Amino acid sequence: MSDTGVMEEKAWWKEAVVYQLYPRSFSDSNGDGIGDLRGIMGKLDYLQWLGVNVVWLNPVYRSPNDDGGYDISDYRAIHPDFGTMEDFDLLLKEMHRRGIRLVMDLVVNHTSDEHPWFVESSKSADSPWADYYIWRKPGAAGEAPNDWLSFFEGPAWEYHPGRGEYYLHLFSRKQPDLNWENPRVREEVHGVMQFWLEKGIDGFRMDVINLISKAPGLPDSLPGSRSRIRGGEHFINGPGVVEYLREMGEKVLQGKDIMTVGETPDVDPETGLRYVGKPGGPLDLLFQFEHMDIDYGADGYWDIGAWSPSDLFAILSKWQRAMEGRGWNSLYLNNHDQPRQVSRLGNDGKYWRESAKLLAIFNHTLKGTPFIYQGEELGMKNVPLSDPGQIRDIGAANFYRRATAEGMDQGEVLRRLQYRSRDNARTPMQWDGTKHGGFTAGTPWIGMHPEYRDINVAVQQDDPGSILSCYRKLVALRSSHPLFVYGTFREVHGSSGGPIVYTRDGEPGSLLVILNWSNQEQPLEGRLTWLDALTAQYGNAELLISSYGDTVDRFARLNLLRPWEGAVYYLEA
Ligand code: GLC
Ligand code: CA
Repeated sequence: MSDTGVMEEKAWWKEAVVYQLYPRSFSDSNGDGIGDLRGIMGKLDYLQWLGVNVVWLNPVYRSPNDDGGYDISDYRAIHPDFGTMEDFDLLLKEMHRRGIRLVMDLVVNHTSDEHPWFVESSKSADSPWADYYIWRKPGAAGEAPNDWLSFFEGPAWEYHPGRGEYYLHLFSRKQPDLNWENPRVREEVHGVMQFWLEKGIDGFRMDVINLISKAPGLPDSLPGSRSRIRGGEHFINGPGVVEYLREMGEKVLQGKDIMTVGETPDVDPETGLRYVGKPGGPLDLLFQFEHMDIDYGADGYWDIGAWSPSDLFAILSKWQRAMEGRGWNSLYLNNHDQPRQVSRLGNDGKYWRESAKLLAIFNHTLKGTPFIYQGEELGMKNVPLSDPGQIRDIGAANFYRRATAEGMDQGEVLRRLQYRSRDNARTPMQWDGTKHGGFTAGTPWIGMHPEYRDINVAVQQDDPGSILSCYRKLVALRSSHPLFVYGTFREVHGSSGGPIVYTRDGEPGSLLVILNWSNQEQPLEGRLTWLDALTAQYGNAELLISSYGDTVDRFARLNLLRPWEGAVYYLEA
């Protein structure tokens, strides 16, 4: 039962822990420096050992790879870098044999400009594919149809001389946006989904799915808009999104036991509930961004702003309360688009181990489905950046070019890139201390993190005090204690500073989570009367896990929390 008196409906994807796997950087089986499907196959024992139940696989489709495979030229083919369709079928079978489900990335806001639909569409306005994309005639002076910007720098419009018109691309020029107003486009997308569902996959992670509907008339941006990007108020959470997703539900997803996760920038809980609120919301889960936007500076994404753990907690606490009994949260602190969490939100120096564990404890004890991004479970860090030649990501490369052209100091450009660049998340998985961390026998497509000899699976796997062991324990706790999944979240303390404390209440008993998200010791007793209240309420407290690897129950003497001390107690009712 939740606070609202609604019995939480059970679902496997609520009970699951998802492992996000970025195939290009996971494991290379043939020495070409690029991770591949056979490489993943060789590591399934590892995933099974870790205990995760679902893998979300970043795109493995045919792609010119302008944006890490998010520019797809054939939705029904495996990129030769990754292997063959036979490899895929085998991988799926092997995963299922181990009780691991597979969620595929569905990237249908846009295609590659090398997709046959776009190639045909760009030939002429009379082509049967003419309206698959968003084309507009140039203005009287040849100008673009409106002032919208692309997420990867520069205008969102590109002139195509062949067709004599502009096409819209919210991401790179090689990622033209599909025209979802065209029913044939929607049918094509449904067909792609059917194709993969017939293979037996277990769900979709839907890339920027709340961008698929653009405002009628494609108006110029509104002055004073708080959107993350110029024009965003006209193409993020646009008028048709929910309707298109409902249609997808009716035509494709209905009656299937799968999981759907929408990636949705610029949603607050109210908007989010339109997508996942029950009854009626077309998706199961969404990736909201409010807590990931916390350190944007005044100039946005490429600027670095100040943030505090209490601000971050306040955002997630708000989401927890808003979704209770109505929807389900997905829990993540990093992914392939975000900096490494221990570097960004923890302390990757002196308290590397403790802070990585504290963040893990946090992400696995909120209510929702936790996602682990590959390497996170080892405490992998952001990458030192001294040479622009290291840059691989298109967004980072474009920022480098613009900032340098605008005269920004080189050191400042690199500082911002090192903090924010998506390349941080994409360096290869660190398996062992051998050359290239056991990722490849060849030369990795992107440089290894320099610390791979110290931070890797082999070093951590058998060490009970390691970050990896902490993750494994959290995954196991979730499957043995239903409170981790279904307990109602209650904030006790932390949204306005000081230690973060919350409980997860239900039957039987409660979990109590205490986090000192800081480099300093912090007192609990004296200034915090809630602890007395809690201790009076509960007789017995059992320590389930701690970022310091404590085995002795410190509950009775928690008056001074150590830096980055995080602990979970089971409180008997
Ligand atoms: C999503 C993906 C990101 C990609 C973008 C465009 O945000 O996670 O990696 O660049 O969409 O497809
Ligand atoms: Ca390979």
